[in-house]
Amino acid sequence: MTSETVSPASAGTPPETAIVAALAGRSLVLVGMMGAGKSTIGRRLATRLAMRFVDADAEIELAAGMSIPEIFETHGEPHFRDGEARVIARLLSGGPLVLATGGGAVLREETRARIRERAISIWLKADAEVILRRVRRRADRPLLQTADPAATIGRLIAEREPVYQLADIMIASRDVPYERIVDECIGLLHRRLCRGDTTEPKPPEARDERHGEGFDTKGFGTTR
Ligand code: S3P
Repeated sequence: MTSETVSPASAGTPPETAIVAALAGRSLVLVGMMGAGKSTIGRRLATRLAMRFVDADAEIELAAGMSIPEIFETHGEPHFRDGEARVIARLLSGGPLVLATGGGAVLREETRARIRERAISIWLKADAEVILRRVRRRADRPLLQTADPAATIGRLIAEREPVYQLADIMIASRDVPYERIVDECIGLLHRRLCRGDTTEPKPPEARDERHGEGFDTKGFGTTR
């Protein structure tokens, strides 16, 4: 079927309805760096799809009875990561939902495997400058409490992008109205899930090498 051909069954169906049907009980999981907009976009995406939204960081704080900076300070990062993996596993078992994950969550293979099994993953890719501008407003990211947050962000991006790239789809997160990013998520999900189109369209602002590169088909999920 070409991307222009609409099957009779889906003709006239709003893309949102078609996406939820194609998910068939799977969740949508947003991955990417701090400040990429996972919670903001995720919440709006969930509203559009009439799905439940959960922010993994907020759930971790609820489960621990303390804030993320307090968990890091009191118990250290490895303890936080263990809790994060458990909370995400629990949330995915109770899906379908739209789940915003913390920026480091998918570094765990175990978490990637769970996402692969139960969800479609969306990487919100943001440039270092955008991230820095957004995270500067708040002091609640323990990993960025360093002498040189810009350098830390650069290092984390370099370390993490090979893993983020494994997501099923990528959307360039940038300083445009949030609804526009949500529209792009809906459009790409619809093409991928409902029309089987695996080409990677690029938004107008992203027509340069940094945004177009390296998106392969390995996926957190390979066979969808
Ligand atoms: C982290 C990102 C944070 C939070 C914690 C660690 C990371 O979540 O989980 O501070 O390792 O990138 P956000 O990505 O929602 O800011």
